[in-house]
Amino acid sequence: MRSPAEIWIGSGLPDPLLPERTGRRRVALILQPGAAHLAGSVLTRLGAYEVVTVDIPDGEEAKHLQVVSDVYDVLERSLIGRLDTIVGLGGGAATDLAGFVASTWMRGIEVVQIPTTLLAAVDAAIGGKTGIDRAGKNLVGTFWDPSRVLVNLEIMRALPPDRLRDGLAEIIKIGLVADPALFGELEGPDSSLDLEALVRAAISTKLAVIVDDPYDLDGRRAILNFGHTIGHAVERAGSLTHGEAVAVGMVAAGHLSAERLGFEALARIEACLRLHGLPLAVPGIRAGAVIDLLALDKKKDESGLRMVLLADLGRPMLVPVDFAEIEPALSAIGIDS
Ligand code: GLY
Repeated sequence: MRSPAEIWIGSGLPDPLLPERTGRRRVALILQPGAAHLAGSVLTRLGAYEVVTVDIPDGEEAKHLQVVSDVYDVLERSLIGRLDTIVGLGGGAATDLAGFVASTWMRGIEVVQIPTTLLAAVDAAIGGKTGIDRAGKNLVGTFWDPSRVLVNLEIMRALPPDRLRDGLAEIIKIGLVADPALFGELEGPDSSLDLEALVRAAISTKLAVIVDDPYDLDGRRAILNFGHTIGHAVERAGSLTHGEAVAVGMVAAGHLSAERLGFEALARIEACLRLHGLPLAVPGIRAGAVIDLLALDKKKDESGLRMVLLADLGRPMLVPVDFAEIEPALSAIGIDS
């Protein structure tokens, strides 16, 4: 389903919450425990429908086929049909799962996403990628656009600093690959950040990147994976949040960029991450564990491990990289053999 999502950004929630549609009778609200305190205001806006709330585990624990199957059981019992709607309320794992379930239930039904983390608001809920984890992150997934994404800035403003940081890591990434002015904003003092402006800029830049390569086929969308190849492996091997893992992944990719493409702004990336309290290194992980997980990434792509590197700010390139080159980059983020 590739009709572009309507992205609503504002304080509170729009009324009506769901797009107009004939025949919708029921709504399944897929809800993470961490977002439970936000469910009341959503349920109030769904009063016109029969609503079933489907509780899922928090965080990455939600992205398992067993959870998908449990959700299908509830949808089946609740008679959720082709014209009904799934609403995903939670962080990136909830929106990934809600999108996946919606894309497969009855060959695809409508999904509306209400991200409750900055990371989900600027990345996971935008652009139609859904995902379930196996040994590697997001090894199973679909492309399925939500009909609406609702970004409630009140929720974003109330986030604790660690959750905010996670989202800032993705905004820094979007700036580095496609919007150097946005990156420049993030190099300024923390206190001068205008969250609404950052969210709007990050989302519109991401949408501009994916518009010509929505299915991630020719490398133009893949630039959004800057910092994610090593970041995903580190996230699986260690106990970092996604944003922290992307931060150290960007440092490692920055080292490789300097080595391979003469990239000169690594110190600026490091200073920006430090300014926002994001890590530059991740001690305590073995290089072998990360390399094993990177091998899974390699299998996904016949041409081998390709990484997004930067020739300059806003000039990403997809570059084949072999494992011998990766070891020094891992060492630079504190991961030795
Ligand atoms: N998060 C990367 C993408 O949406 O393609």
